Parts: sequence; structure tokens; C-alpha cells
Amino acid sequence: MQPRIPVLYTTQQLQERVHDLAADIASIMPKELVVVGLLKGSFIFCADLVREMHRAGLQPQMDFMTLSSYGKGKESSGKVDILQDVQEEVVGKTVLIVDDILESGRTLAFARNLLLSRGAADVKIVVLLDKPGKRKVAVEPDFTGFIVPDRFVVGYGLDHAGYHRELPFIGYLEAH
Ligand code: IMP
Ligand code: MG
Repeated sequence: MQPRIPVLYTTQQLQERVHDLAADIASIMPKELVVVGLLKGSFIFCADLVREMHRAGLQPQMDFMTLSSYGKGKESSGKVDILQDVQEEVVGKTVLIVDDILESGRTLAFARNLLLSRGAADVKIVVLLDKPGKRKVAVEPDFTGFIVPDRFVVGYGLDHAGYHRELPFIGYLEAH
């Protein structure tokens, strides 16, 4: 049986927010930039965002990185591993890291430091969701979609134990 997943942000709310985020990004960032999507969670957000960035006049190149700070559960393990690295050199490039949700900050702090240490000229961060109360490492996104309540959220790319990424909305799992 499918679990009941209450809706936090509808498809339309997500579309509108992603459109506005792309306009904010285009107002600050150069036309030529490299978008680095953090997999797997950001794949839907990234796909929608780059199409809105195109409409806003930007011409991004795309790359992806798979980082893991979570096991199969709901708590961060505290250590970040590179499961799959970017394929292109970032030396001298302007980079926009795209992630689904910022929680402890470990994943994004790690990704930003890694790309800067490899010589990226500038690294900015966009997250769809931010859970600010849970920060363990100082890192602030340059662009944020929504500030979310302290709930475990799923859908629009976000999973729990590999499930629910396909949901066209963002919902939350009720504690049981
Ligand atoms: P951080 O390193 O603790 O900031 O964790 C960020 C990563 O943890 C995100 O990219 C997600 O993959 C995952 N994560 C954190 N909170 C949630 C949640 O509520 N639902 C699904 N994934 C989450
Ligand atoms: Mg993630």
C-alpha cells in the first residue's frame, strides 16, 4: 500500500519558485557558468532550474557529482564521500552548485571547498529547500527556494531509503 504523504509544496508552487530563482540567479551570475548538480536528490530541481535559466538568458554547462553523507536512514552520518566526481575541469570557471536540501551543511560545505580547491573562480550555491535549525557547519546558500519546517521531506527528487523521488510535489513523512 502507498503511504499517505501530506503535501508541503504543490507542483505549481514549485514551478513558480523555480522560475523566480532562475531570474535571481540570472541577475547576479554571468551568462557562461557551470551548473554542478548534486545527485541524486537534485536531479528534478536541476532539470527544471536549467530550463528556467535558459529562459532567463543564461547558457550553462552541466556537470554532476554524487556525494553521500546519509546512509539509508534519516540521520546524517557526518562524513562526506565522493561516490561520483565531476567530469570536467572547473579551473577558472564560475560554478553554481545545485542541491535539493541543506541541513547540517556538511554536503555543501564539502562540495564548495572541493571545487574552490580545484581552482574554480567563483562558487555559488542554490538549494531548493533549507532547514536552518539543523546546521552543524557554517554554510549559507546564495539562493534558497523555501525554508522548510523540521520535517523529513520527500518528492521532487528527494527520497527516503530510495523511494518517493518521483512525486511531482514535495510532501513530508509523518512520524510513526
Ligand atoms: P547535509 O549534509 O546534512 O546538509 O544533508 C544534505 C543532504 O541530506 C541532502 O542533499 C539530502 O540528500 C539529505 N537530506 C537532508 N534532509 C532531508 C530530508 O528531509 N529529506 C530527504 N533528504 C534529506
Ligand atoms: Mg542530496
